[in-house]
Amino acid sequence: MRLFGLIGYPLSHSFSKKYFTEKFEKEGVEALYENYPISSIEQFSGLLAQQPALEGINVTIPYKEAVIPFLHKQSEVVKKTGACNCIRIRNGVLEGFNTDVVGFEQSLLKSLDTDHNRALVLGTGGASKAVQYVLEKLGIPFTLVSRKADPSTGSKTYAELSFSEQQAARLWINTTPLGMFPDITTCPPMQYDSITPRHYLYDLVYNPAETAFLTNGKDRGAIIENGKDMLLIQAEEGWKIWNSD
Ligand SMILES: NC(=O)c1ccc[n+]([C@@H]2O[C@H](COP(=O)([O-])OP(=O)(O)OC[C@H]3O[C@@H](n4cnc5c(N)ncnc54)[C@H](OP(=O)(O)O)[C@@H]3O)[C@@H](O)[C@H]2O)c1
Repeated sequence: MRLFGLIGYPLSHSFSKKYFTEKFEKEGVEALYENYPISSIEQFSGLLAQQPALEGINVTIPYKEAVIPFLHKQSEVVKKTGACNCIRIRNGVLEGFNTDVVGFEQSLLKSLDTDHNRALVLGTGGASKAVQYVLEKLGIPFTLVSRKADPSTGSKTYAELSFSEQQAARLWINTTPLGMFPDITTCPPMQYDSITPRHYLYDLVYNPAETAFLTNGKDRGAIIENGKDMLLIQAEEGWKIWNSD
């Protein structure tokens, strides 16, 4: 029986175990997908020793960056983003990948058009790094928006962003957890009146399907997209990596 799994903490609301268990059943794959909630990254080596059959591991909050010192090899994207959410294990060699990048790029592109030529990236954590990588690749200039300004990255605080800047940057990407179940009434402190029908609001949160952030966009005629497709694409991308030569 092949073995795959997820590390993170806590893992009570994890999507991956259900997704892969159903996929294995449907496709007749003899494999198991287990959750490994570890309360500190120092427990990772012990887990690998206890589970020598593990062939592939997904990595979620809070270990996407902390797992990097454990890798023997890293993809170019991991090197550039400093974040890894997918590991392939072959003969004891751990190789790290970042499938959030592919997931975000493919789902963003579905509704992207020439109106969306300047972006605001809300939040500066692990998922934000994947988003920034994709925007750079697509040649879309962006401003990072954070609770604290950081001159080294040029990020601004929400209060520093003017109404006209928010109106001019027609692609808004929420990489913060604001609005995620159960805190579904919260959303980033933007000036939502600056939204026009030419805006595109993308939320990496996928539960609920329509966050307060997205409702604010929809009510003003903007294009909206949640993080569900990104999640599905990154999962399938991981499966391809675990099965590739
Ligand atoms: N759809 C998908 O496939 C997918 C993939 C990855 C992540 N996600 C989702 O994306 C979200 C972020 O994940 P992550 O791994 O990047 O988490 P993270 O590393 O904890 O970063 C989240 C960032 O959001 C900002 N933030 C956190 N709490 C906030 C608050 N109360 N108010 C305003 N800003 C706040 C912070 O940026 P500042 O300190 O700069 O303000 C923080 O760095 C989660 O909801 C996660 O589920 C979805």
